[in-house]
Amino acid sequence: MKTALIILAAGKGTRMNSDLPKVLHPIAGAPMLHHAMRAGDILDPEHTVIVAGYGAEAVTTSVASIDPGAQVVLQEEQLGTAHAAAQARDALAGFDGRAIVLFGDTPFVRPETLQELTASPADVTVLGFEAADPARYGRLVMNGTQLERIVEFKDATPSEREITLCNSGVLAAPAPLLFDLIDAVGNNNAQNEYYLTELPRLARARGLSVAVTRCNEAETLGINSRAELAAADAQFQTRARAQLMDDGVTLVAPDTVYLSLDTIIGRDALIEPNVVFGPGVTVESGATVRAFSHLEGCHVSRGATVGPYARLRPGTELAEDVRIGNFVEIKQATIAAGAKVNHLSYVGDATVGPASNIGAGTITCNYDGVMKHRTEIGARAFIGSNTMLVAPLTVGDDAMTGSGSVITSDVEDGALAIARAPQVEKPGMARKLFEMLKAKKARQSRGS
Ligand code: UD1
Ligand code: CA
Repeated sequence: MKTALIILAAGKGTRMNSDLPKVLHPIAGAPMLHHAMRAGDILDPEHTVIVAGYGAEAVTTSVASIDPGAQVVLQEEQLGTAHAAAQARDALAGFDGRAIVLFGDTPFVRPETLQELTASPADVTVLGFEAADPARYGRLVMNGTQLERIVEFKDATPSEREITLCNSGVLAAPAPLLFDLIDAVGNNNAQNEYYLTELPRLARARGLSVAVTRCNEAETLGINSRAELAAADAQFQTRARAQLMDDGVTLVAPDTVYLSLDTIIGRDALIEPNVVFGPGVTVESGATVRAFSHLEGCHVSRGATVGPYARLRPGTELAEDVRIGNFVEIKQATIAAGAKVNHLSYVGDATVGPASNIGAGTITCNYDGVMKHRTEIGARAFIGSNTMLVAPLTVGDDAMTGSGSVITSDVEDGALAIARAPQVEKPGMARKLFEMLKAKKARQSRGS
């Protein structure tokens, strides 16, 4: 069946106390809105319409970054959820498939649940859940299998507040019917808002069928404050870690590993304690990420080892069997198969050829204060400890640099480059110096 997603994301989220629109606050490295959009992907929607308001420009940029085909429409004033959904009308003109309304601040609805919702034969279907603590959620007033109406907490009578079956906010209906019903929604309620929750009552009054699909309460978690944001992230992490372990990844201390929405880790990879996976990381099967490492926007191939205490920044590509050791930072760099950067180094804007060894304390000096420059190191090269590689620079295959060198010009294949002050030796000089200094100290302590 043809479907269209309408995601409501116009609210400011006052309780976030933030300049950033609520739906752009990240959970597991991705704006919560992206989580909702990803869940909707399973329906293969013909249209995705995001209703933006507060911070619409930032929302538009963020949406385009993951789905350039999605349309963002503006709700100038936030007059309620029905008024928000109505803003999608022009974007869906002529579309006669099913429309599914989601909230941008309810990021955990499972794709399977959305599938179930769209399979419902009723005219209007609402996603509901049994709440352990129904608190301020809208209540679902049932009559047998039919949903008669939804009553918002603020408008509910004491006996209606006893109801524990609650409204998640998600609902589905054929698009023309949805907009038709929205036209009939008024704002005569406690908040003088146009509530989307009016739709079931209006549909029943026309003799239409209104069903409820149920989901777990965890799926409907809404985020309204920083504390709830943190709780949502924790919930995501718990699920994602369990999924990884089911998929055959060893997490030595799962509670200490932080994952992103798009983290991919292959079977039989080993992740030690306290590792952070920022956005855009792929770790292949059999790789090892050791304790206290921080990875972002990088690819770690089979058999590679990273850390402990390594930082892989965006654009890092590690080929098979690469070794990245402690206190090493890599950025925008390709490290070829079997190469080693084991200790205390910075490698940025660079390529390192296969089986090369980058000695302790090596730095690619990639930034001249204005522009970035590249360092190209060939195969089987040996970069001596504490070499400064002043880019732009090429070091050839099988080349070497002497420890402590400041290399400023290209080194050809097979050459040894040494660029440091030659050693000077003065016989007996150290002993003389010590004596002078000791005598001086003795004079000073007598004088005082
Ligand atoms: C809503 C439901 C409530 C349900 C709860 C579940 C209504 C009237 N109430 O209440 O029954 O139990 O969600 O979490 O629908 N938004 C706009 N424009 C607006 C108003 C809201 O885009 O004019 C967006 C918000 O940004 C948010 C979503 O719609 O993403 C929900 O709005 P919110 O004000 O949070 O509704 P609740 O009071 O939580
Ligand atoms: Ca809400």
